[in-house]
Amino acid sequence: MSEPAIHPIALRLLELENNLVLAPMAGVSNLPFRLIARQAGAALVFSETVSAKGLVMGGAKTRRLLRSSPREAPCAFQLFGSDPAILAEACRRLEGEGAAWIDLNVGCPVKKFIRNGAGSALLCDLPRAARIVRSMREAFSGTLSVKMRSGWDQHSVNAPEFARIAAGEGAELISVHGRTRAQQYRGRADREIIRRVVEAVPDTPVLANGDVVREDDAFEMLRETGAAGVMIGRGAMGNPWIFQRILARAEGGGARQLTAQERLATIEHHVALMETSFPDRSVLAANLKKYLAAYSKGLRGSAAFRQSVLEACDLDVMLRHTRDFFGGMERAA
Ligand SMILES: Cc1cc2nc3c(=O)[nH]c(=O)nc-3n(C[C@H](O)[C@H](O)[C@H](O)COP(=O)(O)O)c2cc1C
Repeated sequence: MSEPAIHPIALRLLELENNLVLAPMAGVSNLPFRLIARQAGAALVFSETVSAKGLVMGGAKTRRLLRSSPREAPCAFQLFGSDPAILAEACRRLEGEGAAWIDLNVGCPVKKFIRNGAGSALLCDLPRAARIVRSMREAFSGTLSVKMRSGWDQHSVNAPEFARIAAGEGAELISVHGRTRAQQYRGRADREIIRRVVEAVPDTPVLANGDVVREDDAFEMLRETGAAGVMIGRGAMGNPWIFQRILARAEGGGARQLTAQERLATIEHHVALMETSFPDRSVLAANLKKYLAAYSKGLRGSAAFRQSVLEACDLDVMLRHTRDFFGGMERAA
């Protein structure tokens, strides 16, 4: 009998209840959104990327990024940096604060990261990347993972080689975004390279990542790559229900359309969670705009709704437009 597509993932210290995971997204994967994704069925959530140096120096921004709740566990806190000693110290501090899972960012393509030798720049210096994973492993007793791109550019697609190195140094799970740094977000994520990573580390679970936006994509991704699980980023923004729909499909259920009321209930819950995380209402309103735009994407009248949200002078007006838009959909249906 063939393996079921959706299944738990057993790791050294814990078992993920299924193999669907929310990707780390700076500016998006904050605590409220992670809670929404967990409640929608993601078995694991990744934090926004956090500077190891900022963490060690105790910066206020870093502290905000590290806000967590027992209700989201397991959460993988992602660190970026290029200095093995600083990353090790950041791991010790995080462990001291109760973190059970730390991830290393070997994928970020942004220039600021690259200039400092962090993110996907580490794919150009595998000996350093290996030292970093080793030093993090020595410093941290919890679950350690690495997230990488497929390579620097088409001439240096070295994710399988780095995956082997990282697993050899103690990484317990590897996520691969099937694009090179040079590709940024262009083209389509390459499932063939993800499959080669899966084959390179047969004893280490791999999460396949890139362009999973519909239920079918998840099943195809798992089938074509042989990966242990799927990591979903942009496809979950505005559509956290993608996790529950994949789970329902795996159980043999049909893809029922969400009612406008269900959509609105999740959005209102999301706003309530954001209210706890962002005590300043103008900061909250600024942050909420991108989620509301994503929640309305593809729905009739969404362009006008987005415009009204952009122009809203305060949070209450924004929420009124939101209730009118999503509530109105029910009446129109
Ligand atoms: C807004 C945004 C922020 C991101 N921030 C991070 C990050 O902090 N760390 C990271 O490893 N990847 C980051 N990524 C990459 C995603 O985790 C993921 O690899 C990529 O979006 C491809 O997956 P997707 O097609 O499912 O979105 C980010 C992507 C987006 C769109």
